[in-house]
Amino acid sequence: MIPSYLIDLDIATLPQVETELLVIGTGIAGLFTAIEASRDRQVLMITKRTLLESNTRYAQGGIAAVTAEDDSPAYHMQDTLTAGAGLCREEAVKVLVSEGPERVRELISLGTAFDIENGELALTQEGAHSHRRILHANGDATGYEIVRALAKQVASHASIKVWDEHFVIDLVTQSGECRGAIVQEADGRRIYVKADAVVLCSGGAGQLYRYTTNPEVATADGIAMAYRAGAEIRDMEFIQFHPTSLCYPGAPRFLISEAVRGEGAVLRNIRGERFMHKYHPQLELAPRDIVARAIVSEMELTKATQVYLDITHETLDRIKLRFPTIYETCMNYGLDLASDWIPVAPAAHYMMGGVKTDLHGESSIQRLFACGEVSSTGVHGANRLASNSLSEAIVFGKRIVNRIRELTPLKESVSVPFVPSLNRKEVFVEVSSIHARRLALQKTMVRGVGLRRSEQGLLQAKSLLEKELAIFNTSLTTQEEYEFANLLTCAILVTEGALHRKESRGAHYREDYPDCDDLLWQKHTVQQRERKIAEEVSHAT
Ligand code: SIN
Repeated sequence: MIPSYLIDLDIATLPQVETELLVIGTGIAGLFTAIEASRDRQVLMITKRTLLESNTRYAQGGIAAVTAEDDSPAYHMQDTLTAGAGLCREEAVKVLVSEGPERVRELISLGTAFDIENGELALTQEGAHSHRRILHANGDATGYEIVRALAKQVASHASIKVWDEHFVIDLVTQSGECRGAIVQEADGRRIYVKADAVVLCSGGAGQLYRYTTNPEVATADGIAMAYRAGAEIRDMEFIQFHPTSLCYPGAPRFLISEAVRGEGAVLRNIRGERFMHKYHPQLELAPRDIVARAIVSEMELTKATQVYLDITHETLDRIKLRFPTIYETCMNYGLDLASDWIPVAPAAHYMMGGVKTDLHGESSIQRLFACGEVSSTGVHGANRLASNSLSEAIVFGKRIVNRIRELTPLKESVSVPFVPSLNRKEVFVEVSSIHARRLALQKTMVRGVGLRRSEQGLLQAKSLLEKELAIFNTSLTTQEEYEFANLLTCAILVTEGALHRKESRGAHYREDYPDCDDLLWQKHTVQQRERKIAEEVSHAT
């Protein structure tokens, strides 16, 4: 069984630091929440790399919010519910679409410079959106612009401290409440950070898979530590694969934004034939899961490892203006978007499930909140609508701070929590061996728990993953080891969720249960340490 703490220690012996709010992670969720909270409290932000390195930084397409006259929150809501395939929590979606526009205006007032066209916010289209409602910045560098603007704000707030190159090992809980976290400095020294409230903003788990659009840091740390702490974790089987990541020898699986298709690019198989008409009436702008599976079908049909994305109808000037990062990156590999078809294939991109929260971002553990990809607010259902993730982070970040303002501070008399010891073995693990095990885990996930799943493949993956569980009986000391343990935890949650759900819905596709079964399965899966997987009625209509 996965233990409640990754390490054995006596917290009373650790140096202790106190803060009012601990924010773990520095993507858009962490930055926005910290800025909002810093108006009336001391905030400590912790990142395992630097303020500028997070998944947000690589977001291209943009941020979805209703700003155009011909659009409305009702349309945005309907699009989100449709993409979510019957599993969105309707009240959460309502919160997102109604509060999103105001939060986006706040992002602008905090210094984010979205692109402007003819004096108005420039809006693009993405898959499964009925209207153009995606704001973007510097063409396709939206995430970077948001992080730049918010990080600048953070740096200028005296009440926000940032610890970079620090790794949060575990949350500390006592009597059903979160009381802070155990943190490791780069030199291996450990500290107990005591906090009145903790917000997990630690992002997702793209590194579960060999092929991902996510950076190296996306190792499921927040989900795994919340699970160890006993929080409810919801809908882990729903992993979104982005249809179009660059698939070229020697190149990373660089994201080729859905906005490229939004601007008219088409998909072709390696014979040069368009194919999306065979799969969905919305063609290239069908929901992501459908486009991704269509691409895999065409790859199989043509015995190829890729398909092509063709935007050669556009002028070079327009491509450079709208997609400067993608253009430059492809050019580094000799691929010219204006004249070449770009080889692409699906890659793991986003985790719809996560730490279950209420409408104020609070988890099932008091004083523990989750915001952004690590959370399961109910907004995304079984399949996230493109560009809803950045808006979700700011909308729920604000709500979390409002809720935290109602909390009373932790009493001084609170004793130092006790961490049960497992007397783990001191085993020297070579870094190269941890790397090899991480790679093997990623390959297991691609083979057995990828875009298309079956009982046999899932059981095989489960048994391979379980062989690695012995790691929890050893004494872990390095970031690489903690990350591997977190990935393993998350891989098991995803695999068990996928085995449990005997139907196909949104991003979860079972070849042995190819139909969506509303009668039996319009419900969520909930996993919690020491409990069997449970089902929860869906609040979708
Ligand atoms: C993209 O630009 O295609 C990614 C946007 C998203 O995942 O929301």
